[in-house]
Amino acid sequence: MKLNQVKLGNQGLIIPNIGLGCMGMTSFGDADTYGKHDEKEAIATIHRSLELGGNFLDTADLYGPFTNERLIAKAIEGNRNEYIIATKFGWEIDDSEQITWKINGQKDYVKKSVERSLKNLKTDYIDLYYMHRLDKNVPVEETVGAMSDLVKEGKIGYIGLSEVSSETVKKAHSIHPITAVQSEYSLFERTVEEKGVIKTLNELGIGFVAYSPLGRGFLSGQIRSIDDLAENDFRRAIPRFQEEHFYKNIELVEAIENMAKEKGITSSQLALAWIISKGIVPIPGTKRRTYLEQNIEASKIVLSEADVQKLESIVPLGTDTGATYDEFGMGLLDY
Ligand SMILES: NC(=O)c1ccc[n+]([C@@H]2O[C@H](COP(=O)([O-])OP(=O)(O)OC[C@H]3O[C@@H](n4cnc5c(N)ncnc54)[C@H](OP(=O)(O)O)[C@@H]3O)[C@@H](O)[C@H]2O)c1
Repeated sequence: MKLNQVKLGNQGLIIPNIGLGCMGMTSFGDADTYGKHDEKEAIATIHRSLELGGNFLDTADLYGPFTNERLIAKAIEGNRNEYIIATKFGWEIDDSEQITWKINGQKDYVKKSVERSLKNLKTDYIDLYYMHRLDKNVPVEETVGAMSDLVKEGKIGYIGLSEVSSETVKKAHSIHPITAVQSEYSLFERTVEEKGVIKTLNELGIGFVAYSPLGRGFLSGQIRSIDDLAENDFRRAIPRFQEEHFYKNIELVEAIENMAKEKGITSSQLALAWIISKGIVPIPGTKRRTYLEQNIEASKIVLSEADVQKLESIVPLGTDTGATYDEFGMGLLDY
């Protein structure tokens, strides 16, 4: 089965118009990112995704660390070439597999990271390799220069960046053509649009991949109270899910749900179709087949201009839904 295909960037990468975010399939240190996960169901979800044409998988060395890439290796074993794998580096992870909570964009660290990811993914190439965050102490030209060497060596196919400003994109693109930028984008998070990043990407012919397209599950309507989140759920630390914003945001979700009901779809599907209508590739995260199937169906929904306008009048650009990371996480964004 084939989904609608899109060109990501101008270097030849073709992917389906929706990907599968794998982050929630493994735990993060002691915490579950988005509730309990089950390895068997996670692997079945990756397999089902491929059956339905969803062969674009998103992971990072950070997730775990490393356990997410290792899970993917297990899932794709014997079938690697059927998948398009995107992974990321940049959060420094030391030799005892501990996250140091620093960002490292130095040349040597790029080279070390790719070798670890290739080993963990049990592959000899990574399709799309992202700089996960900008190291503000290292010129992006150095980091992308090292990534460019990896392309020449055949270790990675294409270069991506994550959560970067227009200025950084332009500098990076002058060193090696950038294929994609991945940043948070959803009805609840439109900073990249407000900051002109999407406009820059369009001008330079760089693709845009939207992470957390369901607002980390908020837009699904499945979370009605803060107590729906487990004690060790990562989202409890995010202002958007905390009391001052939570109940205002729920009202927005209810309005989106009402519109979805009128169209005979779910609010998650409406939120994804809205992103796709802009030529942006969402990578909804799920660890279960039922949600995956609904999300893949959303990739076939075509919204009218009137639908898009109605949705954007429910959550207008500039709506304050609360910060999307705690203070430390916000400080690592390049805006
Ligand atoms: N570049 C970066 O810095 C960065 C940051 C964050 C994430 N990412 C990537 O982006 C991917 C997606 O983002 P995300 O996982 O943070 O957030 P998301 O896709 O906005 O939301 C994920 C949450 O939505 C739930 N969900 C998914 N489909 C659903 C459906 N059809 N109905 C109801 N609930 C549904 C999931 O439930 P279940 O988990 O229970 O299935 C999970 O709790 C990640 O997996 C990761 O690969 C990148």
